[in-house]
Amino acid sequence: MKRTYWKHCHVATLRDGRYNTIEDAVIVTHGKQIEWVGPRGERPASGADECIDLNGAWVTPGLIDCHTHLVFGGNRSLEFEQRLQGVSYAEISAAGGGIKHTVRHTRDATEDALFASARKRLLALMRDGVTTVEIKSGYGLDLNSERKMLRVARRLGEALPVTVKTTCLAAHTVPSEFAGKADEYVNYVCSEILPTLAEERLVDAVDAFCETIAFSPAQVMRVLLRAQKLKLPVKLHAEQLSPLGGSSMAAELGALSADHLEYMTAEDAAAMGRAGTVAVLLPGAFHMLQETRRPPVDLLRRHGVDIAVASDLNPGTSPALSLRLMLNMACTLFGLTPEEALAGVTRNAAKALGMLDTHGTIEAGKTADFVAWEIERPAELAYWLGGELPSRTVRHGELRDLASV
Ligand code: NIG
Ligand code: FE
Repeated sequence: MKRTYWKHCHVATLRDGRYNTIEDAVIVTHGKQIEWVGPRGERPASGADECIDLNGAWVTPGLIDCHTHLVFGGNRSLEFEQRLQGVSYAEISAAGGGIKHTVRHTRDATEDALFASARKRLLALMRDGVTTVEIKSGYGLDLNSERKMLRVARRLGEALPVTVKTTCLAAHTVPSEFAGKADEYVNYVCSEILPTLAEERLVDAVDAFCETIAFSPAQVMRVLLRAQKLKLPVKLHAEQLSPLGGSSMAAELGALSADHLEYMTAEDAAAMGRAGTVAVLLPGAFHMLQETRRPPVDLLRRHGVDIAVASDLNPGTSPALSLRLMLNMACTLFGLTPEEALAGVTRNAAKALGMLDTHGTIEAGKTADFVAWEIERPAELAYWLGGELPSRTVRHGELRDLASV
C-alpha cells in the first residue's frame, strides 16, 4: 500500500464539529486511510512513497451531501413559473403536479436515461468537492420504479469516484393509483417494497415524508418501524410545511436525522437533542419555496442538536447543483456561522448518514477523503456564491481527476 505525505497545507480537521485547525500541517495517508495528521515539525519519521506539495492550500474533509433526490426524470421549471405567479407548492401538489409530475416522468424513463441525467448532476456536485452523497428514491412509488431509481444510485457509486449511500423514500407521496387509499399504499410499502429492495441490498436507509400533503405521523411510524425490523436505519422529512411532530417521533425511534424542520417546536428540538438525531437543514428548498419561517437554529443549539446542511437536490423545491452555495445560504438565510455550515457538510453530514466512524473529519484512522482549497481562510467556503473554486480533491488517498471520468 502506498504511503503519501501531503505537505505545505493548513488543515481544518472539523474534529468535534469545530474548525480545529492545524497550521503548516502534514497529512500522511496509507492506502485509503489517513494514518497521521499534525504539525509539520511533529511528523513521523516513516518514509513516504510519494510527497505532494499542496502549495499552502486549506484542507477540509471531503464534502458530504447527506440529502439529495438527484435521480429523476424531467424537470419542473414550469411549476417554478407557476409558483412565481403565486400558486403554492401545496396547491400544485393537490392538482396532481409537484412530486406526482416527477413520478410520471421517472416511471417513463429507462434506467439508462435516468443514469445519464443523474450522472451530470452528480458530477456538478463533485466538482464542488463532494466525495460522499446520499441519494433517495421516491419518484417511483411502485416496486419496479423504486428499484430502478435505487439501481441507478448504486451504479453511480460504481461508475464515479464518489461514495453513494442510498435511501428508500417509497413513502414520499401517495401515487395516483392509490388516491384516497394512503393506508393501503403504506401496507404495500411495508409488505412489498421495503422488504424486497432491502433483500436486494439496494437500501442503506429508509426515509418518509411526514406532511399534510403526504403521510400522517401514524402512517410514517408504520414505515419506520418496518424499516427497523429490517435492520435499516431511518430518517424523516419533517416539519417542512406544518408542525406535525414528526421530528419528535423520529427522535424517539432513534432516527439518524430529521430534515427540513422549519416548523419544529422546542419539544421537537429537545427530543432530537436527547436522541442524538441530526437536524438536516435545507436552505435550497426554503429559498425556492420563498418560505419565511426559518428553522429554529437557536433552539437546536440550545438543545445540543448537531446541525447538517444539504442540497436537497430535487426537481421541485431545490434544483441546487452546488453544495457550497448551500453553505452560503445556510449562513445568510438561517444564521449559521461559516464554521457551523462547514461542520454541516462534513462531520455532521457524516453523522446524519451513520458514517461518522469513518468519514466527516480529518483524523488518523478515517477514510482519506479531503479537499485542498486555494483559499486564504475556511470561511471563504461559505462566502463565494457558487462558481468553481480552484481545488484538488483526494478520495481514498488518491488525487481525483474528474476530467477522465
Ligand atoms: O425534500 N419535501 C419533500 N420532498 C422534496 C421535494 C420533492 C419534490 O417536490 O419533488 C424535498 O423538498
Ligand atoms: Fe428532500
